[in-house]
Amino acid sequence: MSEKANLLIFGATGTIGSYITAAIVAARPSFNRIAIFTSPNTFNSKAPALDALRQQGVDILVGDITSREEVLKAYEGIDTVVSALGRGAIAAQIPLIELANATPSITRFLPSEYGTDIEYGPASATEKPHQQKLKVRAALKQVRPDLEYAYVVTGPYADFPFYLGRSSNEQAGSFDALAKRAVLLGDGQGRVSLSGCADVGTFVVHTLTHWDAARNRALKLNSFTTTPAEILAEFEKQTGATWSVEYTSLDKLKELEAEAWEKGAPAATVFTLRRIWTEGGTLYERRDNEDIGVTHTATLGELVTDSIRAQIEGVPSKH
Ligand SMILES: NC(=O)c1ccc[n+]([C@@H]2O[C@H](COP(=O)([O-])OP(=O)(O)OC[C@H]3O[C@@H](n4cnc5c(N)ncnc54)[C@H](OP(=O)(O)O)[C@@H]3O)[C@@H](O)[C@H]2O)c1
Repeated sequence: MSEKANLLIFGATGTIGSYITAAIVAARPSFNRIAIFTSPNTFNSKAPALDALRQQGVDILVGDITSREEVLKAYEGIDTVVSALGRGAIAAQIPLIELANATPSITRFLPSEYGTDIEYGPASATEKPHQQKLKVRAALKQVRPDLEYAYVVTGPYADFPFYLGRSSNEQAGSFDALAKRAVLLGDGQGRVSLSGCADVGTFVVHTLTHWDAARNRALKLNSFTTTPAEILAEFEKQTGATWSVEYTSLDKLKELEAEAWEKGAPAATVFTLRRIWTEGGTLYERRDNEDIGVTHTATLGELVTDSIRAQIEGVPSKH
């Protein structure tokens, strides 16, 4: 795309959407129009955040993602759709893609991915948490050829309250900087690739600004690869204390996962994703960061510092 893009973001004020929107706004000169589409509920409940965006030149469009008329109106003059809709709204992207397909000005659609690679290997096809996102990818294969896509696959978020955080469900893995206690997944030595939330925003911006390299690809992006044992060592170094440690073996994780699905527990998705990560489902022969011009990402040390600060002082992540 040679001209500057006119963007519409769905889920812009959500957990990862706010990092993505912040990164897009920070890269303002690379874009023409930046608009977000938000629900009336969010419009009322997050007024200060929306005011701040408005002051930074972001157009706030309010509507219902299930309303054909409201979405088509919002699509007017847009060429690029970025979705950061939450897990409960993944399937709702299919009609959004169909409407984008019916809007000739729209040439790029980034669906809400930002997580585990849903086509990592043959077993991925039957993983329960992947089913809706797989249908979204299938919908993007049905569109006109000049409506392109990119999947920003980031693996687990590092930041508190995600991988580097303490968990109320400790057996799914936890780094508790207050209690100085960790529960490590597997034997603690398995490698896992994590992404800082701010880096996820950077990845989306670079995907958009390096479109020749990004188009129609699942980009495997992450901040660093580490192990639970290395993470623990970093927390111990930064807190100056020896932590108490337990392990949830891969077999135990599978048992907890099966139990959670059987009971219909909300934690079932978390157990499945953490089992996939512990099995090595975030590891690649190479990461694609440099293909889209990302040469600097947050380090484990920086994100552990942020996590400790967030856990002790309630200060959100800087990286
Ligand atoms: N890699 C990881 O560790 C990780 C962790 C969490 C999530 N993720 C992924 O990141 C993506 C975004 O997730 P998130 O946790 O950032 O989203 P979120 O904060 O739960 O939701 C984002 C926004 O989606 C919109 N939305 C509309 N209807 C919704 C519905 N029925 N359910 C949920 N959201 C709805 C809301 O925005 P409006 O009100 O403005 O419409 C909401 O603010 C997902 O694809 C998710 O799988 C990855």
